[in-house]
Amino acid sequence: MKTKGFIFDLDGVIVDTAKYHFLAWKKLANSLDISFSEAENEQLKGVSRVKSLEKILSWGNKTISEDTFNRLMAEKNEDYLGHISKMDEDEILPDVPRVLNLLKKEKQLISLGSASKNARTILERVSLNTCFDAIVDGNDVSKAKPDPEVFLIAAKQLGIAPKNCIVFEDSIAGVEAANVANMISVGIGSEDVLGHAQHIFKDFTEISDEFIKALIER
Ligand code: BG6
Ligand code: MG
Repeated sequence: MKTKGFIFDLDGVIVDTAKYHFLAWKKLANSLDISFSEAENEQLKGVSRVKSLEKILSWGNKTISEDTFNRLMAEKNEDYLGHISKMDEDEILPDVPRVLNLLKKEKQLISLGSASKNARTILERVSLNTCFDAIVDGNDVSKAKPDPEVFLIAAKQLGIAPKNCIVFEDSIAGVEAANVANMISVGIGSEDVLGHAQHIFKDFTEISDEFIKALIER
């Protein structure tokens, strides 16, 4: 039997935390008189906390001191953690457990590959912290997506060659990172946004057991 490495992004793939990032960034942007809509939010998906704030400030043509920058990042994260603290297993996205269980049953290797420094906290909240063979998150990387670093570290920790890894991603930057890493990219979301993914599904309910088994066998 073949063993592949299945790498999952967290926010927007395993759990619907994208909506909490949106709420927290919107609150921050509006407090600086910078408008912030879903379209802007799309560009922040998969992007690190620092880079996200830099982008918001550039959209609003604002320059701030380093101290203010750090304070705003801390405030955004506190706000975000407030939402996270209320999460439980119900917030795991539909059919994610089915796919994870199938991969376990098929003895495949599974890693998290997330930009978030809150990844471990979130996995604990939704009781998925013991599910992964490797966890690579924002604390382990020096280069943010679209740099492939996070996925390449995950592949290394699993002991699987990049070409035998499959990445599930909901962000433009993340799909790009998977492609650059020479992995199979599976976009979770809309075709308009993730057209550069090798496979695209609206969500995991559209991913059949047969599709997963074909990925294992290829
Ligand atoms: C990514 C999210 O997974 O993690 C981004 O898509 C977020 O929106 C990034 O900015 C960093 O997350 P955190 O939790 O460390 O601020
Ligand atoms: Mg994501």
